[in-house]
Amino acid sequence: MAKAAPKSVIKEIAELRDKLRYHEYRYYILDEPEISDAAYDGLMNRLKELETAYPELVTPDSPTVRVGGAPREGFQTVRHARAMLSLDNAFSYDGLREWDRRVREGSGREKIEYIAEHKFDGLSISLQYEDGFLVRGVTRGDGATGEDVTPNVKTIRSIPLQVDPAILKKAKLAASFEVRGEVLMTRKAFEALNRQQEKIGGKIFVNARNSAAGAVRVLDPSITAARRLDFFAYYLFVDGKVPFAKHSESLSVLKQLHFRASDDWKLCNGIDAVTEYCDTWDSKREKLAYEIDGVVIKVNSTGIQNELGFTSKAPRWAIAFKYPARQETTVVNDIRVNVGRTGALTPVAFLEPVQVGGVTVSRSTLHNMDEVARLGVQIGDTVLIERAGEVIPHVLKVLKEGKNRRPFLMPKECPECGSAIHHVEGEVAYRCVNAACPAKRKESLLHFASRHAMNIDGLGDKIVDQLVDKGLAKDVADLYTLKEGDVAGLERMAEKSAQNLLLEIAGSKKSSLARLIYALGIFSVGERTGQLLAEHFSSLEELAAAKEEQLEAVHEVGPKVAASIVEFFSEPANRQLIKKLNKVGVHPTAEKRKVKSDKFAGKSFVFTGGLANRSREEAAELVQQHGGKISSSVSKKTDYVVVGTDPGSKYDKAKELGVTILTELEFDKIIQSK
Ligand code: IVH
Repeated sequence: MAKAAPKSVIKEIAELRDKLRYHEYRYYILDEPEISDAAYDGLMNRLKELETAYPELVTPDSPTVRVGGAPREGFQTVRHARAMLSLDNAFSYDGLREWDRRVREGSGREKIEYIAEHKFDGLSISLQYEDGFLVRGVTRGDGATGEDVTPNVKTIRSIPLQVDPAILKKAKLAASFEVRGEVLMTRKAFEALNRQQEKIGGKIFVNARNSAAGAVRVLDPSITAARRLDFFAYYLFVDGKVPFAKHSESLSVLKQLHFRASDDWKLCNGIDAVTEYCDTWDSKREKLAYEIDGVVIKVNSTGIQNELGFTSKAPRWAIAFKYPARQETTVVNDIRVNVGRTGALTPVAFLEPVQVGGVTVSRSTLHNMDEVARLGVQIGDTVLIERAGEVIPHVLKVLKEGKNRRPFLMPKECPECGSAIHHVEGEVAYRCVNAACPAKRKESLLHFASRHAMNIDGLGDKIVDQLVDKGLAKDVADLYTLKEGDVAGLERMAEKSAQNLLLEIAGSKKSSLARLIYALGIFSVGERTGQLLAEHFSSLEELAAAKEEQLEAVHEVGPKVAASIVEFFSEPANRQLIKKLNKVGVHPTAEKRKVKSDKFAGKSFVFTGGLANRSREEAAELVQQHGGKISSSVSKKTDYVVVGTDPGSKYDKAKELGVTILTELEFDKIIQSK
């Protein structure tokens, strides 16, 4: 029997949950955080710790459920209490005026009060709350039935898991209600996702809408959680009916209930005010944090809405005004490659300059050779390009093949330094592996100095270009031997800023080992891997000497990452760099993991289901302290599968393959045994 939770723990859990909810509201809804991310993580970790120790105190609305649980087998379909209809579209102001005429005639009124709102470009979702708690999230599906995506929507931080009964009371709203709105990805989240995909040679998403929709409709909620989605609410029902006399009241109440709802809606008296609103946002929409593809106009009075009713497909009382897509045709004059920090060559289309939505576009990244092949694009072709908010537009498709078109071939030599290009069969990326390539050198210096790496403020691209071109920084270690005279002689460098930059550089010597590992720019080693490696190896020298097996013993480091680390340190230039860094005083050390025994040496473990006595991270730490390693999937090579509550498909797989299965209790006994 688990021990009963003391009152003090119950109290602390309640306080932590309140605090986390408050800070989530400040961060995700108001966009005005009061505490640092680290402080927020601290509160969350403490709550997780207590919930692990006292699993009976876990509730379905706890902030800890946002991390995403175990994947499921498939989606259940759910019938909507009230059909989720689509909207009729208008593509011109004439179309809008025509609709306004029908609304006025249908309602017998001369002028109508409308609400104009952003048309969010995402995926519509219905959220059902019972007794103030979120119980279900369902996609639109075919309008009549949708997919139950509850575990996924629970990971979206702008969706409240519970609403405050006091606010419900104040708004005179029943505790069971339905909220509809749009799940979307902000431009920033979308760009970060594609940067990440480009780095790992993964699928490049064409637009934020598709990647948001894809992330909601995956079976593994941890993928939804990782993709940083947002939710904007625009509709409120109680028992299938709008509970207020006006739509504008619904929008205000949604905000009071701590839903994210746009502040940019406007009450428009008559259709002229509506077209003015559409005009205003057409010129401002590029600056929004998320994409909109139009404006939704709704009759404000619920009474008139009911009088007008619905056609079989859409309400008569609302319409979507669609902005023309920001697409343009142009010619691909050339395709050249850009050399990145890791040496990866990215094909870039050089376009005949063309105006797209007020911006001149003359380049577009083609991401990688797979994308070039998928588009079938060649030099000389006429293409359709789209600027969907990103600074860099993308090529959508080839419209007309050029008369003298010629295919783009990946160069055999690096365009920057002339050394041979490497390509591993089956991988997407082509790379320049010359450590001294100036293009790579510049990118490596910028990465080394970046905020999450050594955090050297003031070392931007203009300075880096000059340092490399003048031969002052051949590698990152050279930064530490720069003299004031070197730096002050650079263009755009005042004396004071030269001194500041040198102080920043010197200060960065104190950075942690984790930061330094990340800062080296080893292919496939991101911030998190840097941290994990620093927990395992006590210095850079020790990491550099590690064999692949030792690296793979680190939690989350697989064969690919291990091979990449070994390859990096086997390069003589890189070994030299480590020595040089050491000499100039960059040699952070870290606390090494305490090894308790080698009873699990060479054994691999997989965990599935919920653990009662510890978090997954703690369990993994224990296995590693005893020499074992953790794997995320079950195979014939797995030695033990530890099964908690509600195990997933890994449990079935283990039975099928005859892998030894342990309960958490049995696992505990082995750990405690001598
Ligand atoms: S109201 C019955 N308001 O656009 C009316 N929809 O093209 C329900 N959408 O299916 C929709 N922003 O997914 C409404 N402010 C907004 C919206 C919005 C985006 C989506 C929604 C709808 C689609 C129709």
